Amino acid sequence: MRKIELCLETRGRSEELQSFYGALGLDCVPEGSVIRLRSNSESQIVSVSKSRLSIRAPSRRVVLAAQSGLAYDPETIGAAEARAYRPHRIPFDVQLCDPLGNMVGVSPSLESKTIAVLTSGGDAPGMNCVVHAVVRAAARNGARTLGVQNGYSGLIRGEIVRLTPEETAEHVHCGGTFLRSARCAEFRTAAGMARAVANLKEARVDALVAIGGDGTMRGAQALSAEHPELSVVFVPGSIDNDIPGTDSVGAATALHRIVEAIDCIESTMTSHSRGFIVEVMGRNCGWLALHAALATDAAHTLLPERPAGPGWEEDLKRAVLSRPRMCTYVVLAEGAITSTGERITAESIRNVLTGLGVDSRSVVLGHTQRGGAPCAFDRILGASLGVAAAEVALSRTGAFCIYYNGTEEVRELSACAEQCSAVAETLRAAREEKGRSGIGTASEHNTHTLPPIEAPGLSVEAADTMLRARGSDFLEAYTAVCIRETPEVPARESYCVAAVGTLGAGADHTIAHMEKFGHVLGKTVHDISTHPFFQLDPARGGVFEERALKNLRAHLAELSCSTLVLIGGLDALFLAAKLEVQLVRPVPETLSPDGAGEEPRKKNGRSENLVVERILVIPCTISNNVPGTDVSIGADTALDTITALCDNLKINATRKVAYLVEVHGGACGYLCIATALAVSAIDCYRPEENRIISRLSRSARALSRYFGKNSAPQLIIRGNGAMRGICNDTAAKILETDGNGEFVVRHCTLGHVQKGNRATAVDRVRASKIAHFALKCSEKGVWVLGMYGWTCRRSPVSNAVKDVNEEERKMLRYHWPQMARAYRIIR
Ligand code: F6P
Repeated sequence: MRKIELCLETRGRSEELQSFYGALGLDCVPEGSVIRLRSNSESQIVSVSKSRLSIRAPSRRVVLAAQSGLAYDPETIGAAEARAYRPHRIPFDVQLCDPLGNMVGVSPSLESKTIAVLTSGGDAPGMNCVVHAVVRAAARNGARTLGVQNGYSGLIRGEIVRLTPEETAEHVHCGGTFLRSARCAEFRTAAGMARAVANLKEARVDALVAIGGDGTMRGAQALSAEHPELSVVFVPGSIDNDIPGTDSVGAATALHRIVEAIDCIESTMTSHSRGFIVEVMGRNCGWLALHAALATDAAHTLLPERPAGPGWEEDLKRAVLSRPRMCTYVVLAEGAITSTGERITAESIRNVLTGLGVDSRSVVLGHTQRGGAPCAFDRILGASLGVAAAEVALSRTGAFCIYYNGTEEVRELSACAEQCSAVAETLRAAREEKGRSGIGTASEHNTHTLPPIEAPGLSVEAADTMLRARGSDFLEAYTAVCIRETPEVPARESYCVAAVGTLGAGADHTIAHMEKFGHVLGKTVHDISTHPFFQLDPARGGVFEERALKNLRAHLAELSCSTLVLIGGLDALFLAAKLEVQLVRPVPETLSPDGAGEEPRKKNGRSENLVVERILVIPCTISNNVPGTDVSIGADTALDTITALCDNLKINATRKVAYLVEVHGGACGYLCIATALAVSAIDCYRPEENRIISRLSRSARALSRYFGKNSAPQLIIRGNGAMRGICNDTAAKILETDGNGEFVVRHCTLGHVQKGNRATAVDRVRASKIAHFALKCSEKGVWVLGMYGWTCRRSPVSNAVKDVNEEERKMLRYHWPQMARAYRIIR
């Protein structure tokens, strides 16, 4: 590697500079008014540009630098985030400021090792994306990757092959695992393990990445104990989503399959007024059944996490009777049991429905839900975890897991395995327990430290089991599904909901879920989207016409509205900010001229001129450009639609062809970068970049390199706000001309079809969670309700608007730097 040396003028701060760069492991030699910084075998200067420096240091030093209070780059890492720095955060790159104010990016040194990768247990869509990302990230760092075929069984038999990024790229859009998988009892024997270790040694493997479920994790742990010099990295990949503390690759796709199947069943169900029992996979974990029930508004669900106590048939009857007759279905997890340990069968549920006079059928979805192309969510998750896995494998020794919990994290494998065992133990104890009583709240006085969660309809023990086994998001989802079993509550509050501007898919689900939950939470929900006020174009300020506003105020007062919910993108956000003055704060006329404010007039304890107590914004836009949330409702549906359309371009090519695909997003590059990562595009043009010629020639060079040796179709994704002033036709011609006849370039603009049709399962789950959250929000004020992972959080609208340039409709800070980073690595 080229050794970069650097001379910095000390400006009288020689000592501070020495201690700063010394802490990062560089050699620092003071020479008069300058200090010379040199790479050594431990830490290297990788690049220097203007006042930015990039350093690779051992991960230990990176973690210490991050924790020791070295100044952070305030633009990229806020003070709060700096304080919350956790060593298991990935990437463990940190952005620092040296004493002279130069930006210093520090990332861990990666060694050139040999990584082996395997997939084990039940196959899961998206496993191929993990493998590709591992191979690509390893290759970027000069490491080679070997593929172990057939999981641990192939490791025992020495079925090990060399993998190249070109080869693995061809499988990212395919379901299953091209490395193949197996369940292997022999690996649990001493002889099997010994042969596996010998094969790893013979192939000179330094690190193993194992992708699979909890069985795979245990296998990885046993292997690490037997072969301590080997770095072992586990990546969760299982449709069951049963590893505590992380999303598993493949679960979202299986959920999509289930929801698609239920959508199809709905046609017959409503045509014949029939009931259905839909049995889904999940031997020990009810995540799929629960989230399918939540996304599709099932009457009831039966899960292994809640062994059904005596009288479960009565609960079921109540749930079924609360539904319109023509639309009764129950989602049954394959592992659902009674509290006496017997399996709950579709037949036993059918008997209950028959008793209610509902003609019903049952459907076992079986392996259909495990197959098919991975959805965009799983591709992005797989790619992000794969990159992180390779980086951990190349920079650390030991045994780790790469988890995803709103962001990538690295954790100790032994701690994760212990957590899995604790969950299994909790579930076993719940199964053995009999006679549940007491409806209640899962609370802190039990063995966990999570805050109390209201779980109406659940006994304290049942709520607690669920909380300890699967966490608070799961329990909240369960209470939301079973909400119909709780008696209706007289309405105490009125909510008005309006969809504003152009929406993403899922807005209707949000409103429908609010109406449903409202009945039992004592809130009446009025959909006022068609009120004339919202028909005026908010972008042109039309809504603030005196008359329109007066009309809205009167309408809200008439409905005694306490909460106005606006669903939409930036239009909804800015409308909320403007309406704050008009509807939530005392109206300007009542303020005294010195601005000190007059005590507002009160009527029934409420200020007369305060129309509503709170305004809530639920971000719903395909562009995902609303601050205050990681992801907007509708973005997943768009991403999934675009991904499927791009897959169409990848097959059946008769010649070397590249497609320049234009996607929506305007001034926001989210859809562009997320699509590029999901489809493994060779390049992407984001609106945040402003170079054109150099970007086109870089793509042309990449295409020439690729088509020099390969022929599969390649994609370049262009955001419609990128490369202003140059049309797709011209861009495609430039690329093709630069290619000198080696390949052709076609372009296509996806336009409005990319919004998608029916919301995806992921968007529906998000819609339902946020609807529940909105109804439970009791704080006064004006808030954005955001989704982080599967968790909802609120933040002030006043903060969110500061993060957007309203005129250019451009976010000033992006919330997907990790995704952009993963893409840069696998590109
Ligand atoms: O672990 C994933 C899973 O799909 C479970 O949900 C299911 O119970 C099991 O695998 C089925 O296993 P097999 O494909 O070996 O029959």
